Amino acid sequence: ELPTDILEIIDKVKAGHPMDVLRTAVSALSAFDPETLDNSIEATTRKGLRLTAQAPTIVAAHNMIRNGKTPVKPNPELNHAGNFLYMLLGKEPSKEEAHILDVDFILHAEHGSNASAFAARVAASTISDLHSAVVAGIGTLKGPAHGGAAEAVMVMAEAVGSPENAESYVRNILDSRGRIMGFGHRVYKAEDPRARHLRERAKNLGESSGQPHWFQILNKIQEVMTPYQRRGIYVNVDFFAGAIYYLLGIPEDIFIPM
Ligand code: COA
Repeated sequence: ELPTDILEIIDKVKAGHPMDVLRTAVSALSAFDPETLDNSIEATTRKGLRLTAQAPTIVAAHNMIRNGKTPVKPNPELNHAGNFLYMLLGKEPSKEEAHILDVDFILHAEHGSNASAFAARVAASTISDLHSAVVAGIGTLKGPAHGGAAEAVMVMAEAVGSPENAESYVRNILDSRGRIMGFGHRVYKAEDPRARHLRERAKNLGESSGQPHWFQILNKIQEVMTPYQRRGIYVNVDFFAGAIYYLLGIPEDIFIPM
């Protein structure tokens, strides 16, 4: 649970983008953590656990507050991913929904050093403190060149509208030297190894929620993009993560905080 003062701060900045609200609330939480200035490994691990629990609560509370609703308190019976969906959407997720999000969180957490993790490490390396390092990471992840691709994939899928339109849509973008969202990666010049863990799950979730056409659109886009594999452009994790977030009913501006 978040201190009442933090909920009041979230209320004051509720008009901001969820990433800005998250950054502000994490920063403010340093004033409430009993070990902010203790940089020992033991204290930092405890602070990390607390922040891991608090961050989703902040995102969910903000979503409720900006919609004029009362934040949902965490339910200790649910796991981390299930609890997040419960607090965000105000209803208990199915086992399948909670599992898919758990897989998604693990895949993203396992990703080692990217721009935001690097920024956080730079802050930590000055012997600052964990809250400062996480705030640096959140500010860096906000950029559309880093955290924004999952949202862009669903914007693209909506613009395509139906599988029959996918080919001409993709060709138009490629002919004008644009980029197809959810393809390509700075490091992976083969398929992003995280994508295969989400592909089948996105398909199943689409079918079980009565919206199979999103996966059909994405599948068609993939097919059209196949020749680009020769140039090292393969599908990346955001391609399917975007569809999964959308099918779970997560608001699009919360895809980056995910
Ligand atoms: N769609 C179409 N063409 C793409 C492409 C994409 N998604 N990604 C790269 N290319 C093309 C580039 O235009 C470039 O073509 P050129 O050699 O004719 O100029 C070529 O492939 C090499 O691209 P490059 O800019 O060197 O790739 P990069 O490794 O620097 O870029 C990304 C990596 C992630 C920034 C880039 O692939 C991209 O913008 N992808 C879309 C956004 C996205 O999904 N981001 C999430 C990453 S997890």
